[in-house]
Amino acid sequence: MSSTTLGVAATRRAYRLVAGDDGHHLQAVEEAIPPLGPQDVLVRIAAASLNYRDLLVMRGQLGPVRDGLIPLSDGAGSVVATGSAVSRWRAGDRVAPMFYRDWAAGPYREAYGAAALGGGATDGVLAQFVVVPEASLVRIPDGMSFEDAATLPCAGLTAWQALVVRGHLTAGDTLLVQGTGGVALFGLQIATARGARTIVLSSSDEKRERASRLGAWATINYEATPDWDVEVRRLTDGLGVTHLLELGGPDTFDRSLRAIAAGGHIAQIGVFSGFGPRSNLMRLQLINATIDGINVGSGEQFDAMNAFITAHGIAPVIDRTFGFDEAAAAYDYLASGRHFGKVVVRL
Ligand SMILES: NC(=O)c1ccc[n+]([C@@H]2O[C@H](COP(=O)([O-])OP(=O)(O)OC[C@H]3O[C@@H](n4cnc5c(N)ncnc54)[C@H](OP(=O)(O)O)[C@@H]3O)[C@@H](O)[C@H]2O)c1
Repeated sequence: MSSTTLGVAATRRAYRLVAGDDGHHLQAVEEAIPPLGPQDVLVRIAAASLNYRDLLVMRGQLGPVRDGLIPLSDGAGSVVATGSAVSRWRAGDRVAPMFYRDWAAGPYREAYGAAALGGGATDGVLAQFVVVPEASLVRIPDGMSFEDAATLPCAGLTAWQALVVRGHLTAGDTLLVQGTGGVALFGLQIATARGARTIVLSSSDEKRERASRLGAWATINYEATPDWDVEVRRLTDGLGVTHLLELGGPDTFDRSLRAIAAGGHIAQIGVFSGFGPRSNLMRLQLINATIDGINVGSGEQFDAMNAFITAHGIAPVIDRTFGFDEAAAAYDYLASGRHFGKVVVRL
């Protein structure tokens, strides 16, 4: 337990990534909470969630890992204390830090990349308390649990930017999502709420059933049906889907090009099969289709998504919640691919 002074904790429990013989691993620490600057906010993190990206960070696949980095980008909690110049937040406010600490609004700038939480040099949220600038926080939906809210900053917002901000998905559209992880299921839920029909690819028939219960219009087992692009076209009367969340990378991209409808929109998001794609993009030109690179989203987009989630009563899909002492098991579970939706750590 953290010791406290004047009602505010002085120390925190956290995890840091430390180098070992076989790469980085989690190390639990108890340490002093960093000092609060005038424009900083002290947030007690109640829950954090894992993304595929957190596996890439730990494995060094997104570049060198800073020794001692606090991992995870996605968390939610409540404001405990504010710096002397903070005007926007008060103790007790329910908040989530933004994935890109400095991307509050407007177009993305490359400089934002260096301050993505839980990667590169910037500490993340796998800690009981974090100190963040006031402009890097977003209010979470009223009445939503901290566990649910902890799934929104990366997975939810990526699907939102892809489908709504950039894709302008609307009623009558068709969507293809690859797999049943965090981004894919948020894509399914957002598209369903906007009146679109979603086809879900999954390697598991049990997960396909769960996706159907969540609102999927059709599902395809991509292992039993490796030519899933042919099946997507058959299901859509030969037209293809109007929207597609490309999560697979090099191994799926050529099929995605064949599954997208004329005039359709591919959101390039994922890297499951590595960094790429290296496809011949001529087909996009021939069918007047578009590909957008998607990089999570801004605080402004996060606010808009939260309003939509509240209006439509969307409940994030959490597969399993682990305790603080089980953080390593949460990583292993995500890496196993057995999850349906999100994996959460309660702090
Ligand atoms: N650009 C961005 O801003 C951004 C943001 C978030 C995520 N991403 C990327 O998007 C992808 C999804 O992230 P996530 O956190 O949602 O992942 P996740 O929750 O870990 O999703 C894992 C699931 O995806 C499915 N899957 C794995 N490999 C697949 C493949 N080759 N083809 C089709 N489905 C496959 C599997 O579903 P089944 O078990 O059902 O087969 C697996 O259980 C990752 O590559 C991640 O790095 C990018």
